[in-house]
Amino acid sequence: MAPQSARSITPAKGKLGVLCVGLGAVTTTFMAGVENIRQGRSKPIGSLTQMGTIRLGKRTEARTPLINEFVSLASLEDLVFGAWDPIPDDGYESALKCGVLDKHEHVEPIADFLKSIKPMPAVFDQFYVKRLVGTNVKKGKTKRDLAEALRKDIRDFKAQHKCDRLVMVWCASTEVFIAPGPTHQTMATFEKAMDANDPSIAPSMLYAYAAIMEGVPYANGAPNLSCDLPAIEALAREKGVPIGGKDFKTGQTMLKTVLAPMFKARMLGVAGWYSTNILGNRDGEVLDDPESFKTKEESKLGVLEHTLQPKLYPELYGNIYHKVRINYYPPRGDNKEGWDNIDIFGWLGYPMQIKVDFLCRDSILAAPLVLDLAIFFDLASRAGLSGIQEWLSFYFKSPQVGAGLYPEHDLFIQLTKLKNTLRYLKGEEQITHLGIEYYEND
Ligand SMILES: NC(=O)c1ccc[n+]([C@@H]2O[C@H](COP(=O)([O-])OP(=O)(O)OC[C@H]3O[C@@H](n4cnc5c(N)ncnc54)[C@H](O)[C@@H]3O)[C@@H](O)[C@H]2O)c1
Repeated sequence: MAPQSARSITPAKGKLGVLCVGLGAVTTTFMAGVENIRQGRSKPIGSLTQMGTIRLGKRTEARTPLINEFVSLASLEDLVFGAWDPIPDDGYESALKCGVLDKHEHVEPIADFLKSIKPMPAVFDQFYVKRLVGTNVKKGKTKRDLAEALRKDIRDFKAQHKCDRLVMVWCASTEVFIAPGPTHQTMATFEKAMDANDPSIAPSMLYAYAAIMEGVPYANGAPNLSCDLPAIEALAREKGVPIGGKDFKTGQTMLKTVLAPMFKARMLGVAGWYSTNILGNRDGEVLDDPESFKTKEESKLGVLEHTLQPKLYPELYGNIYHKVRINYYPPRGDNKEGWDNIDIFGWLGYPMQIKVDFLCRDSILAAPLVLDLAIFFDLASRAGLSGIQEWLSFYFKSPQVGAGLYPEHDLFIQLTKLKNTLRYLKGEEQITHLGIEYYEND
């Protein structure tokens, strides 16, 4: 395919403020990680924006720059951090309580930096996260007042930290399950519902609304709806702001989106997939509540349906028993263990089994995703992209897509989509992997 002209991208100059909703395990691991890396104590392992390369042109051209040399991205040095949390602990106290990072190696050496991150009072309501009690909480007569208070926080943060640009990433607890309804359809119904304190408007929606109204790109790392509403999507397009979600794709689901495409590629059948997890952090405690778990369950269950396409392959995938469990087990803290038992069948229907036991670290897997999302959403904004950023599906368990589209879950198709979008932005040739030209053009 002939290269097209590059889009104009405003260079990443000046400070980028990264506003995280929630100052818990994922956020503190992300922020402390960036600071440790900036101080030369660690490497940005797990981050595509920091370590990834991109092939350009033909394989014979040997052009494979680092992604962050190919396209202008905010540098780690230019990131400044802010957060909201209903729990008043600063970044240092929270990092110690979450217990993800080694106190002596990665927390104490940057204690002053972490102490400087004090959570702004949150828009929080226990109705939406049953297992948490918050004291650092905004007060307001209506949900619209609360959204306006968030907008003021955003403007104040930008001015105080002399930021050139901002991005917001939802790294807060998973809210109770809410199905999209009439109040979520248009900005008129949404704003009316804010004024009426309608229970269908959750705090995560107010953060998304506030971000977009302030022109700040918004990424949702949890499975609650947040910006995945027709009203918010239309607002994002109208204001020219990039949005996306949902739910960071880190452990078990990441494995699922690698294994399931493999079964389909080889036309192997799947009879059942039983996934169970134990984890003992605050996220696990919140997810122990059936209403928050339901939100997570929906996000995790959708993956197989869209990847295996049972309607296209009814003999192979028409009768799968798919179960996902999350069990709160405090002794493990942030170190999750995820087991998968997969019953597959092959030639002549003979059954086989695959067992996966992933002893992972939840926030260690999620932190580089927060970094990449902040950096790529800022790029999207500087490149003039707005609305849903499907090219960043790579980072999400339950990618938000436009009306009438099904989400692409296959991790490697998602990566191809991401890299082809970068090539597109820079006017480079798309890589189709056809490759016939190596053999047929003399
Ligand atoms: N770690 C992973 O691998 C992973 C993967 C996918 C999704 N997630 C999601 O990311 C989120 C964060 O995970 P975590 O392990 O850091 O959890 P955590 O419980 O350690 O931190 C979440 C923080 O959000 C705060 N919070 C809750 N409601 C809030 C609100 N309305 N406004 C501001 N702050 C609020 C809580 O007080 C808490 O400090 C969860 O929703 C989790 O499901 C995590």
